[in-house]
Amino acid sequence: MMTLRNDELPALIVGGDSLVGGEIRRQLNEAKRPFAFTSRKGTDGAIPLDLAVPDMHALETVDTDTVFFCAAVTNMAACEADPAGTWRINVDHTLDLIRYWSERHAHVVFFSSSQVFDGDTPAPDETAEICPKNEYGRQKTAVENEIAEAGLPAAIVRPTKILADHPVGMFAQWWQLLNGNEKAYAASNLSFAPIPVRDVADLSIRLAARRRDGLWHIASRNSIAYDAAARLMARMAGLPVSLVESEVLTEEKVPAIFRHRFTDLATDKVVQELNFPIKSAEEILQSLFAHLRTSGRTAP
Ligand SMILES: NC(=O)c1ccc[n+]([C@@H]2O[C@H](COP(=O)([O-])OP(=O)(O)OC[C@H]3O[C@@H](n4cnc5c(N)ncnc54)[C@H](OP(=O)(O)O)[C@@H]3O)[C@@H](O)[C@H]2O)c1
Repeated sequence: MMTLRNDELPALIVGGDSLVGGEIRRQLNEAKRPFAFTSRKGTDGAIPLDLAVPDMHALETVDTDTVFFCAAVTNMAACEADPAGTWRINVDHTLDLIRYWSERHAHVVFFSSSQVFDGDTPAPDETAEICPKNEYGRQKTAVENEIAEAGLPAAIVRPTKILADHPVGMFAQWWQLLNGNEKAYAASNLSFAPIPVRDVADLSIRLAARRRDGLWHIASRNSIAYDAAARLMARMAGLPVSLVESEVLTEEKVPAIFRHRFTDLATDKVVQELNFPIKSAEEILQSLFAHLRTSGRTAP
């Protein structure tokens, strides 16, 4: 763990209750680094902040030189359903806050997404042209563009699919079905390039410590189809692989604007410039699914 720039000043995590923000808090805690964080939930010790109606006075209580900007409307369907309302949160007020800290000479790590691409090109690198095909991707693009055009002191991290440190959501559902001897359906025509939340937080803290600006991709070395991931889970948990059924996702299930043919990103920059280790999708999933072996037949 690296130290941040000024050991006396707390880092600020905007959206400390998010998946990524929670892991940054955990890693800073472990390194005994001071930090403050915002939340909408009334979490103990949190500074209340709603990006829909941000109260700048609350933020004036924190003197910081390092900001991790994790809060956003992250549900892509919600962005599509309310483009104006989510634009205010994900673009207008996000940029207001990034400018606010920039004027106070703080360095910001902003979380963008691989959704700034259309997914038609395999493994684009940080110099590739961006061309989002959904509202969430357009909102991330707008923030990225403004940071670049205004020369704001910020690192922009573009993660692919971030995984919690134990199987949740779809992974937990597959496990429950297979464990109950029922069929688990998983897409054969959609892939993902998973990245553990631990790695995303680690990279962000490294970027903050070194005051790095610019674009940074983080993803697994390759992508894997969802049905292949489900079979890997079944094998690792000692459950019947034959119960995993491949299905072809239809437009009704997942509209094409949310589907990328290629879900991987080129990650040479983090490897070469930060010596950051990049793992294969299979290695990452094996670590995730190892929880299932150790938890036996209880739900993950
Ligand atoms: N997870 C991924 O796979 C992934 C992939 C690529 C990029 N990213 C980006 O990485 C960042 C972190 O993602 P995550 O998955 O950790 O997020 P997350 O777990 O979905 O949490 C989103 C956070 O944003 C907060 N938020 C939403 N609306 C808000 C508002 N109006 N005012 C204040 N806070 C608000 C939520 O607060 P509440 O807790 O109060 O609801 C929550 O803490 C996001 O910018 C996301 O777009 C994520």
